[in-house]
Amino acid sequence: MIQVKSERELELMRKACRITAASRALAGEMVLAGMHTQEIDRAVHDFMIKQGATPSFLNYNGYPKSICISINEEVIHGIPGKRRIKEGDIVSVDVGAYIGGFHGDCAATFAVGEISESARKLIEVTRQSFFEGIKYARPGYRVSDISHAIQAYAESFGFSVVREYVGHGVGAKLHEDPEVPNFGEPGHGPRLIPGMTLAIEPMINLGKSRIRVLSDGWTVVTADGLPSAHYENTVLITNGEPEILTTVDGEC
Ligand code: MF3
Ligand code: CO
Repeated sequence: MIQVKSERELELMRKACRITAASRALAGEMVLAGMHTQEIDRAVHDFMIKQGATPSFLNYNGYPKSICISINEEVIHGIPGKRRIKEGDIVSVDVGAYIGGFHGDCAATFAVGEISESARKLIEVTRQSFFEGIKYARPGYRVSDISHAIQAYAESFGFSVVREYVGHGVGAKLHEDPEVPNFGEPGHGPRLIPGMTLAIEPMINLGKSRIRVLSDGWTVVTADGLPSAHYENTVLITNGEPEILTTVDGEC
């Protein structure tokens, strides 16, 4: 069942999403050579609590930390710990904040100092694939129109789309219907209706699309060991242009 949010619920969503986006920005500022990933996790955790929110991911299906930090060939769900970020890494940060009964969910990949030209392009294309997708995030289209636009754009650069993990509805629950894949033929899936809130989140690999999960039970890595990037926002379907909810001062 797809939840269509009322105006009252959307005000609560906006607040959760604002804190989520501010958390992503804070994490992004801390993605620096020499930083332990657990320091970023702790800082974002403390920030959310200070804002009156709680981290959506902490204890979600047993997830042990407050945010996900995935480096280089790690696609998603990297667990913060003692690992140090180093020059040349690309670092994906995924955050969710829960407040007033609603979740926000967003992610981005950050470069650490000088990175390879191919990694730079991967980050840029992954981000832009989200914006190509949301051109279809409006009434008159269906979910897979978004999916198809993301895939077509990413693959036109020779990159590949992760299949096993997908975007999703988000609201009172972190994961709601519908699923929002980053691949597929256009014209399928639910019709988009004003009041739907979707976490649209392309996960794009430099090499092949195959992934595997490490023995920690969480960290998803590319099978070929090549880098991966992630970009996500919580998006509201309106009567016209989609509204990106996970912004701070219009930035995302
Ligand atoms: N942002 C992730 C998603 O959209 C959620 C992370 S799952 C967790 O699916 F378990 F790590 F919290
Ligand atoms: Co998500």
